[in-house]
Amino acid sequence: MSMKEQWGTRAGFIMAAVGSAVGLGNIWRFPATAYENGGGAFFIPYLFALLTAGIPLLILEFTIGHKYRGSSPLNFSRMNKKSEWIGWWGVIIAFVISTYYSVIIAWAISYSFFSLNQAWGEDTEGFLFNNYLQIAEAEGQMGGLVPSVLIPLIIVWAIALGVLFRGVQKGIEMANRIFIPTLVIIFLIIVIRAVTLPGAADGLQAFFQPDFNAIFSGEVWVAAYGQIFFSLSIAFAIMITYSSYLPKKADITNNAFITGFSNSSFELLAGIGVFAALGFMASQAGVGVEEVVAGGVGLAFVVFPQIINEFPALSGLFGFLFFVSLVLAGLSSLISISETYVKGFAEKFGLSRKASVAIGGGIAAVISLLYATNGGLYFLDTIDYFINQFGVALVGLIEVVAIAWFMRKLGPLSQHANRTSDIQIGTFWKVCLGLITPLVLGYMMFDLFRQNLL
Ligand code: PHE
Ligand code: NA
Repeated sequence: MSMKEQWGTRAGFIMAAVGSAVGLGNIWRFPATAYENGGGAFFIPYLFALLTAGIPLLILEFTIGHKYRGSSPLNFSRMNKKSEWIGWWGVIIAFVISTYYSVIIAWAISYSFFSLNQAWGEDTEGFLFNNYLQIAEAEGQMGGLVPSVLIPLIIVWAIALGVLFRGVQKGIEMANRIFIPTLVIIFLIIVIRAVTLPGAADGLQAFFQPDFNAIFSGEVWVAAYGQIFFSLSIAFAIMITYSSYLPKKADITNNAFITGFSNSSFELLAGIGVFAALGFMASQAGVGVEEVVAGGVGLAFVVFPQIINEFPALSGLFGFLFFVSLVLAGLSSLISISETYVKGFAEKFGLSRKASVAIGGGIAAVISLLYATNGGLYFLDTIDYFINQFGVALVGLIEVVAIAWFMRKLGPLSQHANRTSDIQIGTFWKVCLGLITPLVLGYMMFDLFRQNLL
């Protein structure tokens, strides 16, 4: 694999990093998470998590990629021969995420077209489960491929792997230069429309209404850190891979701040748009906002279609724009997740980029067919739960503890970052990564085991 691949421009790298960060997590995970964890008061732990873990870890991962210039496993082995497995762990999680993340993008492609004439009808939930996903009632019937999911899924993989095939500049950078500005424009149109709908103010009121007691709950802090980790794509080897293509003179620390704040701005915007739309829906149904709040699959594929059904005008257009924004946000994240193992496999097995895309991406695509069966939603839910609960916190914890305490690399890495940037990092950064982040992640793990095993 050619080691000379590089981003063409600084904006190209930032768009790719923001493209990786901004994904389904911003649009359907953040709004409900914030609402359930203190509403307006959630912003306190959230900002704390962003500043003490999110951005410090982005700086760390950008520095590792920039300094060691390889995939995550190779970089970890360059830091310390015995720690290559830490890189692989992130790569494997990225691989697993790609197998189901791709499926949700496929659904969003179908739903873009369903929007045009609201093909989902009145019973949007029944439509999703029975007509579209064809969920099997009995276990014994599971296993059949669902053609309505299969076709868009093939399209998703064709685009993602096609982009990776073309390489860093002509593929990843160019795709993000098209996807991200388009996504921002579409999203602004949707949010402006949402906040001007009748009832929008009630939705925003429900979203921002602070419950200050939440700040004293450990769970709320766990939710804030979990959101930041997933949302910034950190601890999955992704940002290490993308930053390995940075040119020598790139300003690492500045880029990390831009990426972190862009992702959070997008998240806040999504929260406003989603809750304005939920407020509209509640007012149409004559119920309180709390009755219609949803997140995840339910928000995007059950509640949003209902909102579109109620739209005063141009419902087909706004439904289409919403699902296209999911597709664009999802694809740019999927490309980053897949690049992580494409590069990891290429370096480990001495493959060319193209061979690694065909083999690594091909295997991921074939595995993703599992979720395009009539039992697919069941697998997807289980794996997603597992990855979110255990994957994120554990890999992040091992990464920071290994680097800060076992390899004692924070000093040399901060010097490396400071050589390239006008923002200087030092003691505060080391305290965040060596102390605060491990303590919080350790508590998260403890909390998870307590909830799941006791
Ligand atoms: N950060 C992306 C989001 O918010 C998702 C993602 C997670 C991407 C993990 C890559 C790896 O949706
Ligand atoms: Na995100």
